[in-house]
Amino acid sequence: MEKCHCARVPFEQIAKLALNHNCSYERVAKDLNAGETCTACREDMKAYCESVCGVKEQKHQANRLSPSFA
Ligand code: FES
Repeated sequence: MEKCHCARVPFEQIAKLALNHNCSYERVAKDLNAGETCTACREDMKAYCESVCGVKEQKHQANRLSPSFA
């Protein structure tokens, strides 16, 4: 599966928006209502988006968990 058929949103669009807006693919998907109806696309969406955004997501997590002394 390459897109959420219910919301008619390609995974590529979700990943690109997440990268461009520096936010998680989960948030973009939710905003676009992708993966929210039948949920059949969720595993494929996760695999695709994590392969594209994965490193960035982990960096995000690390930054959020690190205390800021600035
Ligand atoms: S195919 Fe994505 S919610 Fe149905």
